[in-house]
Amino acid sequence: MGKKITDKVTWVGKVDWELRKFHGDEYSTHRGSSYNAYLIRDKKTALIDTVWKPYDKEFVAKLKEEIDLKDIDYIIACHGEVDHSGSLSELIREIPEVPVYCTANAVKSLKGQYHEDWNFVTVKTGATLELGDTVLTFIEASMLHWPDTMFTYMSGDNILFSNDGFGQHYASETLFNDSVDQGELEYEAIKYYANILTPFSQIATRKINQLLGLNLKIDMICPSHGVIWKNNPNQIVEKYLKWADNYQENQITIIYDTMWNATRRMAEAIAEGIEAADPNVTVKLFSASKTDKTDIMTEVFRSRAVLVGSPTVNGGYLYAIAGILELMHGLKFKNKKAAAFGSYGWSGEAVKRINEELQKAGFDVVDDGIRSTWLPDSDETGRLIEYGKQLGEKLKS
Ligand code: FEO
Repeated sequence: MGKKITDKVTWVGKVDWELRKFHGDEYSTHRGSSYNAYLIRDKKTALIDTVWKPYDKEFVAKLKEEIDLKDIDYIIACHGEVDHSGSLSELIREIPEVPVYCTANAVKSLKGQYHEDWNFVTVKTGATLELGDTVLTFIEASMLHWPDTMFTYMSGDNILFSNDGFGQHYASETLFNDSVDQGELEYEAIKYYANILTPFSQIATRKINQLLGLNLKIDMICPSHGVIWKNNPNQIVEKYLKWADNYQENQITIIYDTMWNATRRMAEAIAEGIEAADPNVTVKLFSASKTDKTDIMTEVFRSRAVLVGSPTVNGGYLYAIAGILELMHGLKFKNKKAAAFGSYGWSGEAVKRINEELQKAGFDVVDDGIRSTWLPDSDETGRLIEYGKQLGEKLKS
């Protein structure tokens, strides 16, 4: 059965406690996730979104316990990605005439994935749908995070259904933001922003300001993943505005991979130097091959500078570092400094190549980087600590 959110709104989604990887194997979901769908009942009834395909039969069966499917007058598809649209085929098979309200781009994404010609009704920003006393207003939110995304605002209860925006991959039985561990929630929310929304930060700022300009009273934000922002929903809006504005904390992150520990020792010596030069900065080290990549990207998002290190192998850098550099490139981080380091035995191209990739990724590369041959001895370790000190000073500004 569903869970009551208000007299008119019932949550009919799926909490997926088992989920550990999302977007294929790209995004780690250590704390599971949820696919939130909502039923709004007034004189007419609307269903907002569905759940991921593996749960489609379960979703429809539970929905039948909640409502006679024939009483669903409208489906609102805020976004075509399969975690929210994956049960549409199973559902619409039972109520084939039901209108599906979505953006023109969502018609493309839904047709492209399900190859069905449902009863689509395309909407643009400002279009409304009356359910009785309740009026739904649609607000296109293109690129947050797909071109097909839209928000839906419900009058009366003053709820913003924001789909992926303001979401988190975070399983919870209690549904609401004030009933979960606040540290976990904060981490999952920033990780979600860092890994999914960072490239669209300028658009996010514009869209949120447009939304605020509409002067809508928002008593609750109901995203399609994670908890509902019921207690002070504005807190996540304020965080998004902060995160979208070239966000950084006083943190330097060192990401490396290593074959025989020489590059790891370099990382640790450089970290020691930075810490000596600037005791106030948080320095964190991560092995690219041992640490989850989306957690590393979250740390990059929080950093004002990032150091990337790899030994030279076959004239280049290690496989895990290549993946990290690709993610850093794709996420289009802004306003961050960077440097490279690495050990080598013969030719030593890795540092130069990492620097080139960091530049292409939009980082401000502060120097040519530092290389050590073979395994650093105590003199070389001293040189690395000194390099770290100088870098720490340089990165203060
Ligand atoms: Fe949660 Fe973009 O789907």
